Amino acid sequence: MQQKTIETKISIFRFDELSEEYKNLVNKAKEQCENAYAPYSNFRVGAAVLLENGEIVGGSNQENAAYPSGLCAERTAMFYANSQFPTTPVKALAIAAWTNGKFLAEPASPCGACRQVMLETESRFKDFPVLLYGTEAVYMAEKAKDLLPLCFVKESLGRV
Ligand code: THU
Repeated sequence: MQQKTIETKISIFRFDELSEEYKNLVNKAKEQCENAYAPYSNFRVGAAVLLENGEIVGGSNQENAAYPSGLCAERTAMFYANSQFPTTPVKALAIAAWTNGKFLAEPASPCGACRQVMLETESRFKDFPVLLYGTEAVYMAEKAKDLLPLCFVKESLGRV
């Protein structure tokens, strides 16, 4: 038997250690939590996508009485960014989550489906960092790919 160990590097920052650009992006993600439609989970997630042209596109989770019809904040923001700016690369993505009257102390991690969508945006344009906001710490992955080892990407189809 052989084993393979896959390591992921996450940098951990205090909010005040972030660059002004990232502070601004994280604040936009936090603001987006107010726009969440989350009457079923009361878990409000905000995402902010920084594009190479300087635009910031926001998104929040949008729930539905038919639960699976809802959509996470990250995919709402990412799909909106990619559809409004189909040729503009994503420079960075920030995510924040709010529940029980406050932002989470430890950052919330994006779900697997959102990670998959981030990956597609990376292969479409280029790698980008993902910032996960928590009041105690901000986690940063240098690229979305770091959040999804052994991923399925277009090369996996074996015909591109
Ligand atoms: N949610 C997100 O918006 N992003 C994630 O990555 C994880 C979960 C939302 C989906 C649902 O509206 C609520 O959080 C509870 O799962």
